[in-house]
Amino acid sequence: MRARGKKSGRGTAALKLYARLCPQVALEVGANAELLACFGEHSVGLGKFSAEAAADAQDLRTGLPLNALAGDSGSNKEIQLLVERLAKRGLLEYRLARSKVGGDAVVIEPQTPDYRPRAAQLRATDVLVLSRFAYLRRRADEMVLESPRAGALFRLCDPAIASALAVLAVPRQIKWLRRQAGFPAMALLALLVDCDILFRIETAGDNGQRSGEGDGNLVLWDFHDLVFHTRSTEGRHANPLGGTYPYVGVIPSPPAIRPSWPGEKIDLGKFAAPAPALSPIGKLLQQRHSVRDHDSGRPVAFSELAQFLDRTARVLSSMTAPLDPDGGGPMLTYTMRPFPSAGGSYELELYLAVDKCEGLPRGFYHYDAGSHTLAPIDVARRDLEAQLAAAQFAMGAAAVPQILLTIAARFGRVSWKYSSIAYALILKDVGVLIQTFYLVATDMGLGGCAIGTSNIDLFAKMTGLDFHVEGPVGQFALGRGAAPEAGA
Ligand SMILES: Cc1cc2nc3c(=O)[nH]c(=O)nc-3n(C[C@H](O)[C@H](O)[C@H](O)COP(=O)(O)O)c2cc1C
Repeated sequence: MRARGKKSGRGTAALKLYARLCPQVALEVGANAELLACFGEHSVGLGKFSAEAAADAQDLRTGLPLNALAGDSGSNKEIQLLVERLAKRGLLEYRLARSKVGGDAVVIEPQTPDYRPRAAQLRATDVLVLSRFAYLRRRADEMVLESPRAGALFRLCDPAIASALAVLAVPRQIKWLRRQAGFPAMALLALLVDCDILFRIETAGDNGQRSGEGDGNLVLWDFHDLVFHTRSTEGRHANPLGGTYPYVGVIPSPPAIRPSWPGEKIDLGKFAAPAPALSPIGKLLQQRHSVRDHDSGRPVAFSELAQFLDRTARVLSSMTAPLDPDGGGPMLTYTMRPFPSAGGSYELELYLAVDKCEGLPRGFYHYDAGSHTLAPIDVARRDLEAQLAAAQFAMGAAAVPQILLTIAARFGRVSWKYSSIAYALILKDVGVLIQTFYLVATDMGLGGCAIGTSNIDLFAKMTGLDFHVEGPVGQFALGRGAAPEAGA
């Protein structure tokens, strides 16, 4: 029998949180006494620090207890500054361990630049449950606990912690959890709540199902769709992204043209009707190509931009009809536009980062397809520049595009109707719209190029919209193409 009032979870000495340099990072003092973070062949300047702080900073190799950094002493203040600079550059991870020298229980790997470990305030009477977006998986020889909602992933170094967390598939009161063998420590629970991997059930009788977690916009997401969205865009994970050629020398590239099926083939050339004169659409398809460099002396005119939006994306008409053809269900509104859209959803919105457009001030705008108007959105200049620069980088262009169109999705517009296929449909809609952009740009004598990456966190910052409510799913650079160089 357990003695009254005696706490359980014995043998689990309190876990403490340490900040530690990522494994590939070392701190060195540079020639001008500046502290440098060195990794591979790169180094990043971190600023000048006192000799005492630089010496203390070496403890970051094994881990500095975060609570010991809270004090106001001069050296502590310097270390706080250093820790913040390292965190901003993604060079820190955090370990939960029972002692400085003991093994890691959990390692927290930040996934977004602004992640800092924060402990949610928890009471013994709070009821916790795992988020339906949380998942545990093997990564190389480690187990990682992740969620597309979380700013960090948690590497569970002790399998007992994984099994202790598994009981939270069912809502449990913290009081009850504390009595269980292998209780994973309040410090970890508080960090997991802060990351939305665990959430608190606020209302009595809530069983932790969809409606209990977050707002209606989150309810509308299927698990696999939110994981796909956050992992296949930039901004909310720390994995390599883009054309990194990770399998060169490992697996040969699949061929550009599929090897033929065996057997006799039917030659279509023999059956072709006599070639009529090429139709306008046939000509456009032949002329269409990607244009990455724009003529800085001849920006797109505002009238051309207005015409481009009119021909590609404007609402042409709308109608209202009941959900059921027999008149039942809610009344739904549909619009007609120049491009097709799955289920007539037309969930795609256009945001314009304008660098140069004759007659339109540089800035960030939303295209209101219903009223065919542009709404200026006040954004920080550095964010606008970061978005344009990322597009330039993605295209390997000599300068930023004259106009960058971000295609954002109002996700709920599709997932309100479709189960399992919502996000896939959105991406298909993006492909359709991009081809429409290409063809109209070509027809108007303008140049365009699709861009495969977009930063969903930067867009959220610029618009103030939550990443799961409305966010980028595609981008297109538009401008007047630079004349090809002589001899090119
Ligand atoms: C979905 C999609 C994403 C693309 N992403 C990029 C990109 O990030 N950077 C780039 O320079 N070109 C990008 N492109 C353009 C392709 O590289 C280009 O279409 C392809 O090489 C064929 O060349 P063409 O468009 O001139 O016919 C993208 C095209 C598509 C359809």
